Amino acid sequence: MDGEEDKIIEYLLKVLVVGDLGVGKTSLIQRYVHNIFNREYKATIGVDFAYKLIQISHNKVVRLQLWDIAGQERFGNMTRVYYREAVGAMIVFDLTRHGTLETVKKWKADIDAKVRLQDAHESPIPVVLLANKCDMIQGSINPGQLDAYCRENGFVKWFETSAKDGTNVEEAANYLVRKILETESQSPPPEGPSSDTDEVHLDPKNHTDSDDGSSEKRNCAC
Ligand code: GTP
Ligand code: MG
Repeated sequence: MDGEEDKIIEYLLKVLVVGDLGVGKTSLIQRYVHNIFNREYKATIGVDFAYKLIQISHNKVVRLQLWDIAGQERFGNMTRVYYREAVGAMIVFDLTRHGTLETVKKWKADIDAKVRLQDAHESPIPVVLLANKCDMIQGSINPGQLDAYCRENGFVKWFETSAKDGTNVEEAANYLVRKILETESQSPPPEGPSSDTDEVHLDPKNHTDSDDGSSEKRNCAC
């Protein structure tokens, strides 16, 4: 066996979570990362960060960096900074408040205008649409209509989710990660020894990070 076999490939993926105030972005992240739910509403100020380590295969690991952007930031001027170098996004709306679906297009347009993949076509980053709080309301979704909405507005897929009971939270995140890895594998890595790439090779002997899905709050280092 040579050293190549032992190399762990680690992908560092920055994913945005956006949508209007109170739609459940922080709750979805907390469910995904810590498997907890809090019914108290505490509005996010600016941006929070959460991390999750995902083992894709025996030698492939994704370090997912989730940027939980406050709903009120749609009216601010920081999103260009927050979006920088993101490779995927989740846009969340609240099934119990129709107005939050109406602003989904604004969030999508904001993302498409401010962040692009670094491929030859500067393609839009993959975005999933999350119809959250499905535990509170039954039968409000017309799947055919949402399929058409996603095709027309460039979403890779939609999911009906509940941060409260966990419905489709893992599925949606896993789907997005798979999509991101597909697009990453299609675009060749930048050339040259000093190139800045998302993919780093770790020697397993030195791979001592025991992060198993921790989340932390930090000030934005931008
Ligand atoms: P901002 O930080 O202000 O942008 O809001 P947010 O999108 O992060 O919303 P947050 O996760 O703080 O949730 C707002 C409220 O909705 C809280 O009271 C949550 O408990 C509640 N909530 C979030 N997701 C769900 C869900 O899936 N089902 C139910 N029943 N309540 C939810
Ligand atoms: Mg929040």
